[in-house]
Amino acid sequence: MKKKILSMLLVTAMAASMLCGCGTGSNDAADESGVADEGDADSESDAADEGDAADGDSAAGLTVNDGVLTMATNAYFPPYEYYEGDEIVGIDADIAKAIADKLGLELKIEDMEFEAIILAVQSGKADIGLAGMTVRPDRQESVNFSDTYATGIQVVIVKEDSDIKSLEDLEGKKIGVQLMTTGDIFACEDFGEDAVEQYNKGADAVMALTQGKVDAVLIDNEPAKNFVANNEGLKILDTEYAVEDYAACLNKENDALLEKINAAIKELKDDGTLQEIMDKYITAD
Ligand code: ARG
Repeated sequence: MKKKILSMLLVTAMAASMLCGCGTGSNDAADESGVADEGDADSESDAADEGDAADGDSAAGLTVNDGVLTMATNAYFPPYEYYEGDEIVGIDADIAKAIADKLGLELKIEDMEFEAIILAVQSGKADIGLAGMTVRPDRQESVNFSDTYATGIQVVIVKEDSDIKSLEDLEGKKIGVQLMTTGDIFACEDFGEDAVEQYNKGADAVMALTQGKVDAVLIDNEPAKNFVANNEGLKILDTEYAVEDYAACLNKENDALLEKINAAIKELKDDGTLQEIMDKYITAD
């Protein structure tokens, strides 16, 4: 049985067959999948030489609103995106700002449920989804992904005194996840829907763990570190559940913008800006 779980874990880490998590969620799963406009943080409105057509990087006419790069995210995923007061900050916010600057666009960040991001990009409400989003073949059926800009690892958070010491120990336990994330998808595939409790935010899943409503939380490593640092009595298991690539998602019809974004990402990688942004938010451990 243990072997079986492990091989299932491997298979699911690679294969991606399901479009979503556990279907209609229990508890607080949002049923409105529309773009929640709340907290629409207008991150720095200093448009950099907007629409300068002479500029080879110009993205004039390629975005939903001319002169603006509209980014869809779910801003409860530190250090990739989170609120500092009214402002959405974090790795993805900084990267988007750097990309927007390169393309001569003003950045506008729209906060929404994680599950609404792909829809927002598909339906032309946003130009890019940037949300620590993992590249998955099933998602690629709905959106294009840019070149990857970071690596994520799915990890397991448990209470410090938990009897869960390895992935196999998760069998028969309640696992908390953020709805429609890869943690949700993997947990459902490997342990069955009944074992999984879905929450709208990763922080809510962690809260449920501290309250003993779930036994473990399956989530990306950097947010996991953040949640563990901010909640007493939690720890991250040593085992990696799955290693993933993060990328921006874009509308399938907009190859021109995809090219510009990829070119910008490449420049940011080459000139060290990307690494600087990572280092600003992630301290070596
Ligand atoms: N990497 C995971 C996924 O793509 C989780 C991303 C959650 N991001 C967020 N901003 N809440 O499914």
